[in-house]
Amino acid sequence: MKLETLLELIMEAVAENPATSLIRKKTFQLIEELRSEGNTELAEALERNVRIRTANPDMGTYKNYWNHLAQRLEPDEATGGGPDMHHKQYTFLVDECGLKSGEIFLDIGTGSLRGTRDIITYLEAGNFHGMDVSEALISFSQERVAASPEMSSRRPSFCVDDRFRFSSIFPDKTFDFAFAKSVFTHVYPDAIWDCLTQLRRVISPSGRFFATIFKDNSVQIYRGDVRKMYFNTVWLAETANLSGWTLEEIGNTRVGQYMCLFTPN
Ligand SMILES: C[S@@+](CC[C@H](N)C(=O)[O-])C[C@H]1O[C@@H](n2cnc3c(N)ncnc32)[C@H](O)[C@@H]1O
Repeated sequence: MKLETLLELIMEAVAENPATSLIRKKTFQLIEELRSEGNTELAEALERNVRIRTANPDMGTYKNYWNHLAQRLEPDEATGGGPDMHHKQYTFLVDECGLKSGEIFLDIGTGSLRGTRDIITYLEAGNFHGMDVSEALISFSQERVAASPEMSSRRPSFCVDDRFRFSSIFPDKTFDFAFAKSVFTHVYPDAIWDCLTQLRRVISPSGRFFATIFKDNSVQIYRGDVRKMYFNTVWLAETANLSGWTLEEIGNTRVGQYMCLFTPN
């Protein structure tokens, strides 16, 4: 078996069972073997990712945090940004990235539809899917759609999940386009791993995934917390690679933050 295939299987097992101590123990044995064979780079990449995967923060945190914000503030205020965010996201996605109305679109961390409501009406019926960790924000978005005949006619779908379990919701290779604006800016590294591995299964081979981050390459992996998280893009590129993606750093765009493009490799 090729080493890369073996690593892929291990990372998949760790992703499925982050708390399983046997997998963790065996993986660390393998890391030691790789290291003693002089495979230092691979050993370190695997070690960093396994440590992150097996040190999960309380996943309730994301849900509680966003539900709490949504209940305390107006939903558009809870998800942040200015009132013209929907124009900016439309221009970026349609005019600059070439999103086609016939493409199947996944909005990860869709929130209150502050950003993507014009995308719902742009896409053909049935093509928009929004997911979020917060039931409160998804309920608000569903009400927002119900109040708009134009949006309702496109029959957008919504789901709530706290671990980006796309592959248990959607068939493989469903999506042409995925977008996560201002989501990786609020999660720990293990959630990025979850999102990338899960999304890899449901994205089409020619699909693309745009996600924003805050970049700080002076830290080893990340700094911050759920309120504002910064990532090192060397780590992000490595994590992307291990989960089947190639990362291209786009940088600043009209939607703000630091744009990353992931394409299946
Ligand atoms: C700053 S808001 C951005 C919302 C939207 N993308 C926009 O641009 O208006 C972040 C969104 O990500 C969602 N989110 C945060 N952590 C998440 C997670 N682990 N899984 C899914 N959604 C999450 C939040 O509930 C919230 O709706």
